[in-house]
Amino acid sequence: MLTDREFNRIVFYVKSHYGIDLSQKRVLVSGRLENYLVRNGYAGYDEYMEKVEENPGGEEAKNLVNVLTTNHTFFMRESVHFDYMRAVILPQLKVKAAREKDLRIWSAASSTGEEPYAIAMLLMDYFGIEHSAWDTKVLATDVSTRVLEHAVKGKYLKEQIEPLPDKWKQRYFRPIGEGEYQAKEELKREVIFRQFNLMNPFPFRRKFHVVFLRNVMIYFDENTKYQLIKKIYDYMEPGGYLFIGTTESLDREKTDFQYVEPSIYRKQGM
Ligand SMILES: C[S@@+](CC[C@H](N)C(=O)[O-])C[C@H]1O[C@@H](n2cnc3c(N)ncnc32)[C@H](O)[C@@H]1O
Repeated sequence: MLTDREFNRIVFYVKSHYGIDLSQKRVLVSGRLENYLVRNGYAGYDEYMEKVEENPGGEEAKNLVNVLTTNHTFFMRESVHFDYMRAVILPQLKVKAAREKDLRIWSAASSTGEEPYAIAMLLMDYFGIEHSAWDTKVLATDVSTRVLEHAVKGKYLKEQIEPLPDKWKQRYFRPIGEGEYQAKEELKREVIFRQFNLMNPFPFRRKFHVVFLRNVMIYFDENTKYQLIKKIYDYMEPGGYLFIGTTESLDREKTDFQYVEPSIYRKQGM
């Protein structure tokens, strides 16, 4: 049984390190952690949390994140964003970045890779034979090492790649066994996966043209959400675009981002 005190200790730890607000998620916390503790021979939550708190960069802290994050995603989720990229943003960027030929696109909570791989396929498709002249590598980050390991392998079930256009499936995936497919090297090398906690200071040298920050702020409280939005704003090129989840929104009083259409925002400037 998870006591109030133990629950609050976990909630406090996860909130202060990762921004994730689990205060209303008691069933999720006990459901997911109970098994983990038993499997790993812990006598109770306190013994486990001692271990986590003793070394926040260590293995047990990593496992806590892997167990407590919710990583649901799928290929072509919120496909209106991909349509908008192709119809509006990429034609603009092709002109704007014509000299450098360097696009900086960040999938900031990339989970198991479906989002950044889809962006990468869209970019290759859009640029066609000109693609080799451009650097369009997508940066994909997530706080969970478990999902990143999955993403790097790039293995998906047949049903999972189903929403992709046939020509993308054929060109970028190869069958590797019973109902399973793997992203080809050609696709993999277009995505750079890194572990990154959005609560940490940003280490990036250059600003982004496009940021996908979809379906992650739902786990943060208001303050944390707008602090993160401010940091992202500062790390975007003038005129850069931000995508958030289609069920999310930004209050125009609390951000400098300009509203473009539901779930699509833009930094001022050109
Ligand atoms: C529901 S998934 C969203 C995946 C994808 N963006 C989409 O819309 O389908 C949310 C992801 O956010 C990640 N996440 C949660 N807190 C984070 C943080 N502080 N820093 C980085 N990633 C975080 C989780 O690990 C999870 O993989």
